[in-house]
Order: sequence, then structure tokens, then C-alpha cells
Amino acid sequence: MVPYKPKILLPLIMVITALTVTADYVRPPPRKTLHFPWDPKPSSQPQQVHISLAGDKHIRVSWITTDSSSPSLVEYGTSPGKYSFKGHGDTTSYNYLFYSSGTIHHTIIGPLEHNTIYYYRCGGQGPELSFKTPPSEFPVTFAVAGDLGQTGWTKSTLDHIDLCEYDVHLLPGDLSYADYIQSRWDTFGELVQPLASAKPWMVTQGNHEKENIPFFKDGFEAYNSRWKMPYEESGSTSNLYYSFEVAGSHIIMLGSYTDYDENSDQYSWLKADLLTVDRKRTPWLLALFHVPWYNSNYAHQGEGDKMMEAMEPLLHAAGVDIVFAGHVHAYERSTRVYNGKSHPCGAVHVTIGDGGNKEGLAHKYKDPSPEWSVFREASFGHGELKIVNSTHAFWSWHRNDDDEPVRSDEIWITSLLSSGCDKKEAREILLSP
Ligand SMILES: *[C@@H]1O[C@H](CO)[C@@H](O)[C@H](O)[C@H]1NC(C)=O
Repeated sequence: MVPYKPKILLPLIMVITALTVTADYVRPPPRKTLHFPWDPKPSSQPQQVHISLAGDKHIRVSWITTDSSSPSLVEYGTSPGKYSFKGHGDTTSYNYLFYSSGTIHHTIIGPLEHNTIYYYRCGGQGPELSFKTPPSEFPVTFAVAGDLGQTGWTKSTLDHIDLCEYDVHLLPGDLSYADYIQSRWDTFGELVQPLASAKPWMVTQGNHEKENIPFFKDGFEAYNSRWKMPYEESGSTSNLYYSFEVAGSHIIMLGSYTDYDENSDQYSWLKADLLTVDRKRTPWLLALFHVPWYNSNYAHQGEGDKMMEAMEPLLHAAGVDIVFAGHVHAYERSTRVYNGKSHPCGAVHVTIGDGGNKEGLAHKYKDPSPEWSVFREASFGHGELKIVNSTHAFWSWHRNDDDEPVRSDEIWITSLLSSGCDKKEAREILLSP
């Protein structure tokens, strides 16, 4: 672990977090934050390894060393111990008040074969790790869990995801709950390494990634340094929004905490990105962001309204099939919706902010439930989306029941393309200047 001095900071941090938490609903006892024993490692030993997709047939390997002269080298191959290929990358680091991060390495490797296990090591030394690349065509499976944190419930959720056969992890925001204590980003990195070094983790930011301090620190410094996503590869100028493609799906990762109005860079980028979508190549179109637009829980009620007003017409015009959000610590699934109501050609919205963080669950729901809300429950868990072919996908939500993953909600979703939804008129908005 990287050394740090939290004691001096605690009072300041408590004031800042107290200001950002609203407690208008009762949550059950959250599980304790996990305790990570001090585990000194040789300084060039790679820590916190995670991988992400970085354009067609390429993967970005990210890790941290305390030694700044350790090379950003990834050696890899398709048999254990035999590294026929090499990739070199670059490094970054950051300072945050009294904390100095280790050296953060990002190295892109490829071209890689699809659906293939690669063995690799970082920085020219062990241990050997392995990952599997996603397939080039359907079926493809995504694990989905947001608002993870690093508690006993997080561990339970991660253990369940580990049991599932999936290709890519999608995370709609709120990763470490470091909340200004930077060493918690390091412990989170270690906690998720077994999963995140074996399958690509594609993440977008939540409020807990912000960590801004007015007049002193812009937001997202730790997040952007540590969790670099393929924004450059997808024509974006910000790590806070980007897109990528896996098998036959185009996936848009939006930022709930950066500008989204009609004059914003994110809005222009989204419009341009949606116009590049070729539904013959990617019949499925998904979107993820942190703050839900369709939410019948009292927690965070209405917080997504402004972004929804600005961007829902674009997503609707492009025919987005499914939207995943986090933020609310509970699970909710809508029917197809648009403009606040059920709509036969709208997107299915899923709130899945129930990964297991220290804040606990959000129990209080609006009564009666809105006509668009199909299933809602305040339990920790994770979701799995298996896209079977160009027309059918199977979605299931697995609740952490006494640490058993219990499949509690499931539904076949058909793609909008195959549902006779003609979006010709709606598409005008994408083409307008
Ligand atoms: C797609 O998968 C569904 C569900 O398994 C199946 O009913 C359907 O026939 C498949 N469609 C094609 C074109 O293979």
C-alpha cells in the first residue's frame, strides 16, 4: 500500500461528506468496511491491476507501483509463462493534499484475438495473471453492478459475479467510496483486482468519484488518473464520457456530473457518437450513467430530471434499448419508457446501485408505484445481461440473500430494431445542427 496520513485530514473530510449526504430515508445496517491488513510489497511489484477495452481488439492494462522507475511493460501470450508479445505504455501520478499516489501505469496491448485467454504480467515481473477477451459476435454477457464500495456486501456481490460466466463488467458509477481518503482508492484497487484483471471493467463516474474541493481541487483527479477509459478511442475529449463496442453492441457511457446541456461538449459528442452507430454492425444499443432518470424511490428523487430533459430525446431518437443507472441503493426495472411514460419504442431503464457500499439500502418507495415501474426492491445484488442474438437478450437480477445469489427478477428483452420501431421522425434531432 502507498503510505498516507489520514488523521490530519479526518475532520475536514467529515465536514465535506456531511454536507453531501442527505438522510431522508431509513436504511438497514450496512456491513462494515473491509479491513485490509498492511501488506508491504517490493516497490516495483504491480498492484491494483485492472483491464479495460481500448478500441477494436485492444485492451488497456492499468496498474500501480510505488517505484517510479518500474517499466510500463506488459508481456503477454496465449500459453502460461510464454510471453510472445509486449506492449509499452506510459505513466501518471497525482498529489492530493498530503497524499502522493504511486506510479500509475497504463499500457495498451493488441491486436488480440477474440474470445481468447491471454496470460500476462506487468512491469517485467510476476505474478502471472490472465484475462479472457470478449467474443466478436453474440452471445455476449455483461455483469452489471454499481455503487460498489468496499464492505462485506461488496465482497458478497463480487463473489457472486465471479461465479457468473460473463465477458465484460459494466459499472454505472461509484467505485471505491474513497470520499477524499485517497488510500481507499488503493485498497479498492486491491479488492477488485482478482475480477478486474481477468475481465474488462468499463466504468463511468458517480458522485463519490468527484472529490472536488472548492477553489482548490477540481473533481475526478483520482478517478481519471486511475480508471482511464477509452475516451480518446471514441472521439471524446473527456474521460467522463465515451463509448465502446463489444460483439454486436454499442455502449455509451455518460457523465451525470459533467455538463450535459445542449451547448455542452458532452451533448455534441453524444450526438456525433449516436450518428456513427451502425445498427447492422451493432444491433444493440445500451447506455449507462450514474443518476437514474426513472426512479420511484424517495432516495435521490428528481436528481436526474435535468439530464433527462436534455439527453433523453437523443437516446430515444437513436433507439437505445436499455439504460443502466446507479446512485439509488436499490434495484428497479421499468417497462419501455419515454418522456416519463411507458412507450412501446422507449428504452428499458434499470437502476442497479445496489453493489454493497457502506451507506446501506434505500427502502422508501413512492406509493402507488408509477405505471412504468415493473419491479423494485431494496436489496444488494448484481445483474447479468446476456445478449443472445440480434433480437433477444435475457436480463436477470441476483439478490444477495444471506450471501446466496438468488435470481429474483428476470425478463427477455427484444431489441427495438426487431420490434418495428420506426424512428425516422425522431432521428431529425440527431441530424439538426
Ligand atoms: C434469438 O434467440 C431467441 C431466444 O433464444 C430465439 O427464440 C430466436 O429464434 C433467435 N433468433 C434468431 C434469429 O436466431
